[in-house]
Amino acid sequence: MSKASPEHGGDRKPGVIGTVWKLVTNNFIFRTVFRTGFPDTMLKRMAVMRSSFLMHILPTKVGVHGLKLYYTWCMGGITFFLFLLLTLTGVLLMFYYIPEEHRAYNDMKDLLYMVPYGRILRNMHRWGAHAMVFTVILHMARVFYTGSYKTPRQFNWVVGVLLLTITLLLSFTGYLLPWDQLGFWAVTVGTNMAGATPFIGFEGPFSELLGAQIDNDIRFAMIGGTRIGANALIRAYVWHCVGLPLIASGLILFHFYRVRKDGFSGPL
Ligand code: HEM
Repeated sequence: MSKASPEHGGDRKPGVIGTVWKLVTNNFIFRTVFRTGFPDTMLKRMAVMRSSFLMHILPTKVGVHGLKLYYTWCMGGITFFLFLLLTLTGVLLMFYYIPEEHRAYNDMKDLLYMVPYGRILRNMHRWGAHAMVFTVILHMARVFYTGSYKTPRQFNWVVGVLLLTITLLLSFTGYLLPWDQLGFWAVTVGTNMAGATPFIGFEGPFSELLGAQIDNDIRFAMIGGTRIGANALIRAYVWHCVGLPLIASGLILFHFYRVRKDGFSGPL
């Protein structure tokens, strides 16, 4: 076995601190918790990354360059932080909001004027959502400009595109929930556009090929009817609070797993 380099204290005689350190680290209990021992060699450092529950999602080797703040601007990390913040504030909002035609708008107003800290809760969720759209686009731009989408990360780029789509869909479905004029008409316009989708929209080209009608096309599936009403509200709510966040969580986990397996981009 090769000796540790002098800067790691390999050949030096241990002083008092060295002896105490040895006593603390060289025993059964310490080794049960920190299985690899003190990570003073490259091999041990990699073993820490492999065996620790928290660290194992990170790559075992990362080039110093890739860790520089100006390389990533931590935009992926900030996007993930915002996703967690939105999940937390979203769950808290669910305690005060009922997706019912005659209640939704009033529940929003109650949150603003009656519920203690309701305004800040709602605004954290709202501004957090705007910020997440912003940071995910910046993250994608960074990945593009550093060429990190190239082999072997092209598949993770595709996973990223799905994540971008889910992020935008989360914003779109959340838009309807306040049940105010802005959201109501924005979603009316958005879902009307879906009615013009080729093949599966009743107003789109080739709609006759699949027999798409006003009451069986993609727009009908999205809003549960032919115009925005109670059915559209409950559909938007379930997709916004359950369906899309679950899909996003799975994709984010897979995205991180791929970052780990592909190794982080940038020169080593
Ligand atoms: C919810 C959305 C997303 C989250 C939470 C997320 C998170 C992350 C994180 C934490 C990293 C590690 C490096 C970094 O912080 O920059 C990363 C890397 C990466 N992301 Fe994302 N990402 C998201 C969306 C996207 C999108 C939209 C794309 C592209 C279309 C993308 C493509 C990639 C690629 C290719 C890497 C590897 C980059 C490298 O090795 O330099 N991601 N992502």
